Amino acid sequence: MTLSTPSVCVTLGTRPEAIKLAPVIQKLRGIANLKTYVILTGQHREMVDGVMELFNLNSDRDLAIMKPKQTLTEITCNSLQGLEEIFRELQPQLVIVQGDTSTAFSAALAAFYQKIPIGHVEAGLRTDDLFNPYPEEANRRLISQITQFHFAPTDLAVENLYKAGVTGKIYQTGNTVIDALLQVADTNPQCNIASLDWSKYRVLLATVHRRENWGQPLQDILQGFHLILENFSDTALLLPMHRNPTVREPIKAFFAESQVKERVFLTEPLDYKQLVGAISGCYLLLTDSGGLQEEAPSLGKPVLVLRETTERQEAIAAGTAKLIGTNSRTILNHAQELLTNPEAYQRMATAINPFGDGLAAVKIVEIIQNFLKENS
Ligand code: UD1
Repeated sequence: MTLSTPSVCVTLGTRPEAIKLAPVIQKLRGIANLKTYVILTGQHREMVDGVMELFNLNSDRDLAIMKPKQTLTEITCNSLQGLEEIFRELQPQLVIVQGDTSTAFSAALAAFYQKIPIGHVEAGLRTDDLFNPYPEEANRRLISQITQFHFAPTDLAVENLYKAGVTGKIYQTGNTVIDALLQVADTNPQCNIASLDWSKYRVLLATVHRRENWGQPLQDILQGFHLILENFSDTALLLPMHRNPTVREPIKAFFAESQVKERVFLTEPLDYKQLVGAISGCYLLLTDSGGLQEEAPSLGKPVLVLRETTERQEAIAAGTAKLIGTNSRTILNHAQELLTNPEAYQRMATAINPFGDGLAAVKIVEIIQNFLKENS
């Protein structure tokens, strides 16, 4: 490659960004005559490193900004400053960001300040409630305003972007998370957790981490899990805990004295392979995660969404997920229906995944290549 070889910087900081960008990076790196730099802000450490390894990816730069209990201001300022220097040095033709994290917002802003075009993967998600999810709804709206290439996963996301009056080109590509998921599911992964006998229980796979669920909503959610376990003795709870101490400490404290604790499996975050194994093996999912709402339907598992709003309305419309909030009784009632009514369960489990067919990265990379050709 020569000095004039075109280059693209792919920036990421958290685990979902790494998973959803992995298929795009793999495809970009397969193109001769293109230099693809992977830049980590380091917003997350352990949780990203595992994903990089699984997809055989190495990074070219790493800002290593993570600190315990970091604030949004720290993440944004440190990423913005670090990325400014890197973009100045590498002079890429395009910067790729994904989703709605503080890393994605800072990377888009750093690119915009140097007038480098931005490609936004998973563009156009909206709840239309600025504070739900917080700060992600604001991050994605801000990114959309300064992006040239909007890679929207679904028709609804495309519509949201038109409604927002954004400039730049809008493409419907599907969601790259399905590409990543299918790649891993192909290897038939298993989830092995010490002393959890998958054949003995109907396993409820749960995750919680959202800022708007910190405090009382988290307590209500945990109480909801407790009620399910109390009412259904053939169920077990597998809850991989996010590394954020603000979430994991109350979870551990809640179950420490619980009467059902022998059926509660609190673990470290699962690596992605184990997570895919857990989705395949579980009975149903209870989560406030966005990615799991997209992934679970591909493996035929119903999702109960522990939030008041969702930017994944497609899942609700398709019938693969239900938005149930954080009230403990409501959580019990919805889980109860799926645990006792086989027809209700089948309806959710067999609905078609609206988020794509595993070819999103191919479409995105084709668009990027055409842009680079036109501008070489
Ligand atoms: C971030 C994203 C959120 C995304 C989530 C996925 C923002 C504002 N939020 O939220 O959109 O859904 O990641 O996980 O960008 N920590 C570790 N090791 C790790 C990762 C985190 O110790 O590998 C701890 C650190 O103490 C850190 C804390 O977790 O301070 C919180 O991380 P942070 O990135 O601030 O927020 P998340 O809640 O993870």
